[in-house]
Amino acid sequence: MDLRRRHWSLSAILLSASFVTLLNPPQLSSAASENLVFEVRSKFAGKSQIDLRALRAHDTHRHSRLLSAIDLPLGGDSQPESVGLYFTKIGLGTPSRDFHVQVDTGSDILWVNCAGCIRCPRKSDLVELTPYDADASSTAKSVSCSDSFCSYVNQRSECHSGSTCQYVIQYGDGSSTNGYLVRDVMHLDLVTGNRQTGSTNGTIIFGCGSKQSGQLGESVSAVDGIIGFGQSNSSFISQLASQRKVKRSFAHCLDNNNGGGIFTIGEVVSPKVKTTPMLSNSAHYSVNLNSIQVGDSVLKISSGAFDSGEEKGVIVDSGTTLVYLPDGVFKPLMSQILASHPELTLHTVQDSFTCFHYTDKLDRFPPVTFQFDKSTSLTVTPQEYLFQIQENTWCFGWQNGGMQTKGVGVLTILGDMALSNKLVVYDIENQVIGWTNHNCSAGIQVKDEQSGAIYTVGAHNLSWSSSLAVTKLLTFVSFLIPFLFNIAL
Ligand SMILES: *[C@@H]1O[C@H](CO)[C@@H](O)[C@H](O)[C@H]1NC(C)=O
Ligand SMILES: *[C@@H]1O[C@H](CO)[C@@H](O)[C@H](O)[C@H]1NC(C)=O
Ligand SMILES: *[C@@H]1O[C@H](CO)[C@@H](O)[C@H](O)[C@H]1NC(C)=O
Ligand SMILES: *[C@@H]1O[C@H](CO)[C@@H](O)[C@H](O)[C@H]1NC(C)=O
Repeated sequence: MDLRRRHWSLSAILLSASFVTLLNPPQLSSAASENLVFEVRSKFAGKSQIDLRALRAHDTHRHSRLLSAIDLPLGGDSQPESVGLYFTKIGLGTPSRDFHVQVDTGSDILWVNCAGCIRCPRKSDLVELTPYDADASSTAKSVSCSDSFCSYVNQRSECHSGSTCQYVIQYGDGSSTNGYLVRDVMHLDLVTGNRQTGSTNGTIIFGCGSKQSGQLGESVSAVDGIIGFGQSNSSFISQLASQRKVKRSFAHCLDNNNGGGIFTIGEVVSPKVKTTPMLSNSAHYSVNLNSIQVGDSVLKISSGAFDSGEEKGVIVDSGTTLVYLPDGVFKPLMSQILASHPELTLHTVQDSFTCFHYTDKLDRFPPVTFQFDKSTSLTVTPQEYLFQIQENTWCFGWQNGGMQTKGVGVLTILGDMALSNKLVVYDIENQVIGWTNHNCSAGIQVKDEQSGAIYTVGAHNLSWSSSLAVTKLLTFVSFLIPFLFNIAL
């Protein structure tokens, strides 16, 4: 059992924070859906004599698009002592086979472990692993270097025409995946009624990972791959949106009490969320943080504490388990929280977790509230920021991301610990992100753009192996912000 696995992760980020800007900035213009529907509507409005042929042609066109909502079943949790990650199940290829992939809003590509790979996890304590086999799929096609998708992700190194397009992604914890790109059919669950789904599909390009290293190459907590929900053109959501299959808008409700939760693509009608602008020119989903409150008191922190070199603001990332704060924010935050409990004797577990013996109610710790632009706030309760490693032994989920040094910044990351038990909406088309406290079990309502119908999507809890929690302790603290994304030959 490797309890120390995640300590060097932050130093990787510290050394390489400047590389983050090498990632592709969001470039997809607010394309398809709404505009088109509006144009069509205005075209037929105000005409006294309706041309039936034109209407029929319009209907055929409308039905050829699938701007419907997608339901991605979720499993996992954000407890470092349990699973520490959220995953979904997608279908790939013909015939379709199921793959369990970690949901990551901090990266831009979908990849899965590939059949015949050189270094891949073989057996996981979490789910049954399935390598993707292009030879077994009648719809799989290779992606060559001359493909525009290849040149889009391959901005810094050469790829010779005629060769297969290769990829490399390195994440913030030092783990990496590399392999080649393939084009195949992806199968997803289309929302067709209240808590009902049918099947839909689209052709996308994704990574066939033939060599995974770091935690991604190991077996304990392995899943089949990672599904990146980033806003760059290479993410599967941007690819499906450019085929006018989905809207560039998605939402999640990560259930930290029951496990699993809700992950949908499409427009959420209810509950309503309060939004804050996404920072432009950021490779990630970043928002502007103004202040932090511990209980009722506002923390005193120097201005610019959250600006990390060229990456400004705080990153919202479902692929990271905990919350990472710069040293100048972490220290005042911890001392303010601990001021309410002078009786605690603290000890450090695995170099980075501050832990203590405690038998009283968690409510006696103060909630922590982050204040963003447009008076949007996000509250993290003690039930969310404290986790139990043994009976009566609790640890803080807050992590010290380190010190700012000249020219090299420290990233502030709000991971699953801060995002759970809330509905979080990422509206890429309108460049806003928003959230509201929500009981995930109650479901959410989404809109089917084709019919205008509103349907309830309920929470899911994909099963995982329960032996996991017994055998592993604090192993699965993931940190999936890529710091280098490039193609190598
Ligand atoms: C990204 O996609 C949009 C819409 O399909 C396109 O206009 C834009 O040129 C693409 N950007 C790059 C760098 O390929
Ligand atoms: C994709 O979905 C359509 C419509 O449901 C279906 O006719 C088609 O066979 C599917 N394609 C694949 C490759 O599964
Ligand atoms: C959440 O909703 C479910 C189902 O509606 C209910 O059983 C549960 O008690 C609620 N949980 C909380 C914490 O309110
Ligand atoms: C969710 O799934 C996990 C793993 O299969 C299981 O241990 C847990 O009890 C489930 N949660 C609920 C509320 O059923």
